[in-house]
Amino acid sequence: MVGSEDGPSFGTGDALVVHRDAPQVVLLPGRGGQASRLVSLQGGLPEGFGPQGEVDVVFPVVHGTNCEDGTLQGLLELADVAYVGCGVLASSVGMDKEFAKRLLRDAGIPIVPYLCFKKSQWLKDPEGCSRRVSAQFSFPVFVKPANSGSSVGVHQVKTASALAAAMDDALSYDTKVLIEKSISAREIEFSVLENLDASQPPLVSVPGEIAPTHEFYSYEAKYLDGAGAKLEIPAQLSAEQLTQAREMASKTFQALEGEGLARVDLFLDRQSGEFYVNEVNTLPGFTSISMYPKLWEKSGIEYTELLTRLVELAQARHRTKKGLKRERV
Ligand SMILES: Nc1ncnc2c1ncn2[C@@H]1O[C@H](COP(=O)(O)OP(=O)(O)OP(=O)(O)O)[C@@H](O)[C@H]1O
Ligand SMILES: [Mg+2]
Repeated sequence: MVGSEDGPSFGTGDALVVHRDAPQVVLLPGRGGQASRLVSLQGGLPEGFGPQGEVDVVFPVVHGTNCEDGTLQGLLELADVAYVGCGVLASSVGMDKEFAKRLLRDAGIPIVPYLCFKKSQWLKDPEGCSRRVSAQFSFPVFVKPANSGSSVGVHQVKTASALAAAMDDALSYDTKVLIEKSISAREIEFSVLENLDASQPPLVSVPGEIAPTHEFYSYEAKYLDGAGAKLEIPAQLSAEQLTQAREMASKTFQALEGEGLARVDLFLDRQSGEFYVNEVNTLPGFTSISMYPKLWEKSGIEYTELLTRLVELAQARHRTKKGLKRERV
């Protein structure tokens, strides 16, 4: 999906508009101290570029497969250009909900209990897989593609007989699917920003709360129904809850070796009062009305200042990596 995480297609909302007939461009790696250059295949670059199309920093404000899963980040590494946000590793691990959970569990961070099936496993023995689900969880459960976003392919499954249809749909978006315990939870989100002082832990914003007016925060609630969710900034938490949740957000970012920015989404179980990490978004929506910058604004970092810091972090990482030896000398 290109354009905005806050909209389902190209250039919706006040997101950066990507015209379908926009010039095709190529990013050429820099050579001999020269900056990377953007070259238009049709000739002529948009306003704002130098005559040689020099690029200082790329901010990949694009979402979904091939955009936030490390693929684009790999391309930018090859182009030898500074870019904002997580690198290849954190981007791909952040996108893959199963691998993110494994790392979080390893770091002692509470995650929602889950089972994971590959498409081949499910197709070979759907009854056996269903039995495992029923043995481990009571219904409802959540079924979701391991690599997806925007709640695409996410289902709340209320009975065992409805599991197969949800699995089939989720498996049409990815070759791996998670089945999770359904938690009746408040959804609490934090914006995390890498510290300009690399020796310090990341900065964590005030909390935000999403209260869907639908059964859960589905695709419909996110994008099709203008009144699909209420946002509360800051979320009302006790001092103790806030300390605990912020610590979890910070640890989550570090467990994935996050860089630049990420939004960490938590569930606060209404029954037990426990927090769980639901997921990490390494390229959160970034329009001026998106949760990520809004949380920072409420935390005292304005949009322009936020962008400046992210650009500085990108340039600092690029400089550091450039200083590394690539072969034994
Ligand atoms: N285990 C669960 N228990 C209760 N609700 C859940 C669970 N998993 C997901 N949900 C609901 O479904 C929504 C979407 O799930 P999730 O955030 O995992 O998917 P996503 O497609 O990655 O979303 P995003 O657009 O944030 O990337 C959640 O915001 C929540 O409302
Ligand atoms: Mg989500």
